[in-house]
Amino acid sequence: MFYISTLLQLLLSAAVASWSVSYYSRSICAFERSSVDFSCMFDCSDYHILKTKYWFKPEAHQKQDGSQVGISVYNSEAAKIHQLYKNRTAYANRDKNCSLQLHNVSKSDTGMYFFRFETYSSRGKYTGPGGINLRVAVLPFRVTVKTKKVNEHIHEGDSVTLTCSTENCTPTQEPFAWFKNQRLIPEATDSVLQITSVSHDDFGNYSCGLKNSSTTSADEILLDVRYSPKNVKIAILSSGNIQEGNSLTLICKSNANPAVTNYSWFMIKEANISYIGSDREFSIKSASQKDGGQYFCTAKNDMGSQNSTVTPLKVEVPSHRNFLLTATAVFLFLMAVLLMFVTVTEEIYENLRKSPESEENLTTYVTYVDLRLPSSTSDRPRCNSQDVIYSLLSYKD
Ligand SMILES: *[C@@H]1O[C@H](CO)[C@@H](O)[C@H](O)[C@H]1NC(C)=O
Ligand SMILES: *[C@@H]1O[C@H](CO)[C@@H](O)[C@H](O)[C@H]1NC(C)=O
Ligand SMILES: *[C@@H]1O[C@H](CO)[C@@H](O)[C@H](O)[C@H]1NC(C)=O
Ligand SMILES: *[C@@H]1O[C@H](CO)[C@@H](O)[C@H](O)[C@H]1NC(C)=O
Ligand SMILES: *[C@@H]1O[C@H](CO)[C@@H](O)[C@H](O)[C@H]1NC(C)=O
Ligand SMILES: *[C@@H]1O[C@H](CO)[C@@H](O)[C@H](O)[C@H]1NC(C)=O
Ligand SMILES: *[C@@H]1O[C@H](CO)[C@@H](O)[C@H](O)[C@H]1NC(C)=O
Ligand SMILES: *[C@@H]1O[C@H](CO)[C@@H](O)[C@H](O)[C@H]1NC(C)=O
Repeated sequence: MFYISTLLQLLLSAAVASWSVSYYSRSICAFERSSVDFSCMFDCSDYHILKTKYWFKPEAHQKQDGSQVGISVYNSEAAKIHQLYKNRTAYANRDKNCSLQLHNVSKSDTGMYFFRFETYSSRGKYTGPGGINLRVAVLPFRVTVKTKKVNEHIHEGDSVTLTCSTENCTPTQEPFAWFKNQRLIPEATDSVLQITSVSHDDFGNYSCGLKNSSTTSADEILLDVRYSPKNVKIAILSSGNIQEGNSLTLICKSNANPAVTNYSWFMIKEANISYIGSDREFSIKSASQKDGGQYFCTAKNDMGSQNSTVTPLKVEVPSHRNFLLTATAVFLFLMAVLLMFVTVTEEIYENLRKSPESEENLTTYVTYVDLRLPSSTSDRPRCNSQDVIYSLLSYKD
C-alpha cells in the first residue's frame, strides 16, 4: 500500500512537472478605457480532467506572487466571477488557449493577473508562475525635459530629451504625435523626442499625444533654450517721409532669450564710429541733413551680443522746398528762352534783306511766318507800322 501511494505520488509529480502556463507578455501598460489581451497558453496532462479554469487577481493585502488566490477576473464557473469583472472579459476557451481579453480597464485594475486550473484531484492544481503585471496609464500626457546639466539653463548645442508620458506607465505600441507651438512635428512619432544639439529655433512650447487621437497633453512645456541676440536689425519709424523736419525713430530689433539688457547705438560718418545711444530706440526729434549717415546697433544679453547690419539713413529735402526749387529753375529757364527768342527774331529781321539773284532760285514751298516783335526793347529800324513780317523761305530738292 505504501508503495502504491508512493508510486501514485511520483506519477502525479511527474505529470505536474510537465504542466505549464505561458504568458506572452509579463508586463502590460494600457490606457484607461482600452482593452488588454492577456495572451496565454497552458498544458496539463490528459491524465487529469479539468474542473475549473480561471484568471485571478490577488487582492491588495495578499501576496502578489500567485501563492494566494485572489478575486476571480474570469472563471469557467461564471457565478464565481467578481462583480468588478462581470461582462468585461472574453476568454478564448479553445483547447490550450487561455488568452483573456479585459475591456474598459480602469486604474483599479492595476495589479498582477494569474491563470490557474484545477483538476478533480486534490493536488492537481496549478497556477502559471510569474503572472502578468498590468499597469494602467492615466491621462493626460505630460512632457518632461531632460538634459545632462542639472539646475542649469539649456543653451544652444546642448543635448535635450523630451519625454511624453502618462501617470503610472506609458504605452508605447501606438505612434505618438509631438507638437511645437501647437503645430505637428511630422517626423516625431516616438514617446521620446531627442534633440542632440538644440538651437534657438527649438525654443517653444511642446506638447504630445497619440498620433490619431485628439488627446494631447493638457499643459504645454516651454523648452527654454537660452541664446544670444539673433537677427539684430534696425527698423526706421518716421512721422512721414524721411525728410528734414520730421521726427524719426530707429528701433533696434532682435530675437534673444533672455531678453536684451543693453542696447548701444553707433553712427558711422566718414569712417569714424561714434557711440550715440543706449536705449532700444534712438529718436531724432527733427531730422536734418547731418543726421544722414550709416547706423548700427548692438543688442546684448547674458549670453552674448550681436551687431545689426549697417543701415543707411538718407534725410530728404522736403518736397515743398523741392517744388520751390523746381519752380525757380523753370522760371529761370523760361526767362533764358525768352531772351534767346528775342535775339533770334532780330536776326531774322536783318536777314530779310536778300540779294536779288537768290530770288530766281526760289521754288514752290513758301511759308508765311508771323513774327511779333517786342514793342519797346529794341531801337533797331522797324518795318512799316505793322508788326507783320513776310518771310520767304526756300526749300531746294
Ligand atoms: C452583464 O450582461 C448581462 C446581459 O448582457 C446583464 O443582464 C447583466 O446585468 C450585466 N451585468 C453587469 C454587472 O453589467
Ligand atoms: C488564443 O485565442 C485568442 C483569442 O481568441 C487569439 O487571438 C489567439 O490568436 C489565440 N492564440 C493562439 C496561439 O492560438
Ligand atoms: C468603463 O468603465 C467606467 C468606470 O471605470 C464606466 O464609467 C464606463 O461607463 C465604462 N464604459 C463602458 C463603455 O462600459
Ligand atoms: C508658450 O506658452 C505660454 C503660456 O501659455 C505663452 O505665454 C507663450 O507665449 C508661449 N510661447 C510660445 C513661443 O508660443
Ligand atoms: C487610428 O488610426 C487607425 C487607422 O487610420 C484607425 O483604425 C484607428 O481607429 C485610429 N485610432 C484612434 C484612437 O483614432
Ligand atoms: C548693461 O546695463 C546695465 C544696466 O542698465 C549696466 O549696469 C551694465 O553696465 C551694462 N553693461 C554693459 C556691458 O554695457
Ligand atoms: C574722425 O576722428 C578723428 C579722430 O578722432 C578726427 O580727427 C576727425 O576729425 C574725425 N572726422 C570726422 C569727419 O568727424
Ligand atoms: C560690434 O560693434 C562694436 C562697436 O563698433 C565692435 O567693437 C564689435 O567688435 C562689433 N562686434 C562684432 C561681432 O562685429
